[in-house]
Amino acid sequence: MSDKKHTVKTIQEMKDKKEIITMLTAYDYPTAKQINDAGIDMILVGDSCAMVVHGHPNTLGATMDMMVLHCAAVARACTRTMVIADMPFGSFQYSVEDSMRNAARFVTEAKVDGVKFEATPNHIEKTRAIVEMGIAVVGHVGLHPQAIGALGGMKVQGKDVETARKVVREALDLQEAGAFMIIIEAVPAKLSSYITKKLSVPTMSIGGGPGCSGQLLVTPDVLGMFDKFTPSFAKRYQDFNKLMQQTFKQYAEEVRTGAFPDEEHSYAMSDEVLNAIEEEFEKKS
Ligand code: KIV
Repeated sequence: MSDKKHTVKTIQEMKDKKEIITMLTAYDYPTAKQINDAGIDMILVGDSCAMVVHGHPNTLGATMDMMVLHCAAVARACTRTMVIADMPFGSFQYSVEDSMRNAARFVTEAKVDGVKFEATPNHIEKTRAIVEMGIAVVGHVGLHPQAIGALGGMKVQGKDVETARKVVREALDLQEAGAFMIIIEAVPAKLSSYITKKLSVPTMSIGGGPGCSGQLLVTPDVLGMFDKFTPSFAKRYQDFNKLMQQTFKQYAEEVRTGAFPDEEHSYAMSDEVLNAIEEEFEKKS
């Protein structure tokens, strides 16, 4: 495993050599450090942050300031893993200029390696403009969680000819506009495989089956730290919530019974010093 920082070039080389690309989400320094040290290739600082970190009911609770702060913490931990910032709702919809300014904030203030946004056909022009600024852009097709209101829920996309055509068209247009990778979310596996074969840039599956160039999951789903909503495609590898409950209960028990802190977790002082202090203060009072 190379210690060098992943770039657009190395990620493209992985696709060309048919090496599967690994990606997880992260929102804070300690988690990002573990992901980086574990050799994961890419991190998405997703706007899922609004749900899994801030407790909002959906991703619409994410703001630019919130995302920049989380991105900066993640970027500081990543010496090797490539970091992509997710542009929140309202940060790219209004105008090309607005989207360029917000994308620039992520690279200048948070020092991430690229940005991603849920670009529909109306946003192809914005993808092109941000790429022309010199910022690496990841496209996102299939399920767009920011469109939850219009979609009426988090539903699989591209199951019929009309919606499948839309997903393929968007992926092709985003590649043409300069996106260096396309995230495919909640789309049938056969359609993702077809798109992956059609594109020259890598595809990243989150609920898009095994036929993509890489796989992405939301880290709190992987660790079992978020149980308000778990999509059926997410695999839980650990039960961190259970571990945290056990740990916090044990801590409370030890504090209440006086088992903590013990000698090992306290600072020592010589009896002479204490005697001197006691003598001095007892005399005064
Ligand atoms: O916010 C996020 O984590 C995402 C992924 C689900 C693609 O956008």
